[in-house]
Amino acid sequence: MLIAIAEVLDAAALARVRGLIDAADWVDGNATSGPQAALAKRNRQLSEDDAAARQAGGLVLDALGRSPLFVAAALPRKVFPPLFNRYAGGEDFGLHVDNAIRMRRGTDFRLRADLSATLFLDDPATYDGGELVIEDQFGPQTVKLPAGHMVLYPASSLHRVTPVTRGVRTASFFWIESMVRDDGARRLLFELDQGVQATAAALGQGDAAVVRLTGVYHNLLRRWADS
Ligand code: NI
Repeated sequence: MLIAIAEVLDAAALARVRGLIDAADWVDGNATSGPQAALAKRNRQLSEDDAAARQAGGLVLDALGRSPLFVAAALPRKVFPPLFNRYAGGEDFGLHVDNAIRMRRGTDFRLRADLSATLFLDDPATYDGGELVIEDQFGPQTVKLPAGHMVLYPASSLHRVTPVTRGVRTASFFWIESMVRDDGARRLLFELDQGVQATAAALGQGDAAVVRLTGVYHNLLRRWADS
């Protein structure tokens, strides 16, 4: 399931993140790549250890915690500390799949990447190219979102970033280990959650049918989730 989440960062949070990362030290993106990704990837990145990047990543994590849509769609158990990359001057990232297990260097932090996330940080009118193209069961999906908006997609998907031929494309990217490992089960829970919310809005939280359906949601989550 691909889902776009609007305004993860509002204008003030976006400005704070940009203030931190724009002044930081951008290095060759292949500093952190495995050998196969290194063949495909041409971009720049902030080091995982960069203090400004860590602070900016913390702002992104705070914003995610305030997004009910993110929580409902991802059912997050662990979120990798957000990273930042930048493409310009024809840079791109060829077709690849993200690693299944992500570790944070020098720590015992590790997660299974169930979902990949890209949070766009530049106004799409200011650059050409830089589309995120995700292969899913319905064919390639092309994603290019306003600054502050994010796309969540299965980490198992093949995907690429098209060359940036004008301007600069800056983004935050990271991975999520979900409490519900299976993408299909997670999708059903999300659909049910959204349906229950809409029904509750129409009939009231105390409506007997809403209470029963809420019970079904939680009992499916109890059956399928690892906490
Ligand atoms: Ni990727």
